[in-house]
Amino acid sequence: MTQPSQKRFTVNAAFFQEIKEDHQQLNDILEHLRNLVANKPALGNHLDELVKWTAALRDQLAFHFALEEAYGYFEDAIGMAPWIHDKAGALRDQHTELFTQCQELADLAEDYFQRNEEDASEVGDRFEQFDRAFSEHESAEINLILTAMTQDVGAAD
Ligand SMILES: [Fe+2]
Repeated sequence: MTQPSQKRFTVNAAFFQEIKEDHQQLNDILEHLRNLVANKPALGNHLDELVKWTAALRDQLAFHFALEEAYGYFEDAIGMAPWIHDKAGALRDQHTELFTQCQELADLAEDYFQRNEEDASEVGDRFEQFDRAFSEHESAEINLILTAMTQDVGAAD
């Protein structure tokens, strides 16, 4: 039996379903952007698509972060080892930074579109920076969840 002082790490099925759908949407948007950005010299010919997909990314990301925070797996980490709590807090703080980065990216794409710029490689570079930072964040989050789950299994035995 779990002691009252040991808060179990729980994730419900609805969370997994929503996370799964969100994950698919996010990956789909990221793939569209990666394909566009893969050919930087031609990026200026696809400014309308760049605007469309960076705006989609910003909106999906807002949903993605809201979902993660609403279902509270970070809160579930409270009461576990202090380093897990600290790490969860640091990862949650990254949501604001990453969202701002993504919002600026969408604004920049819109700006290039309005000015009908021929060379949009800067937008491509900024997307790649975001893509790397976001991937690192996601990996760190998954590692933390797995660590928390492993610790919980160990504590419950
Ligand atoms: Fe996150």
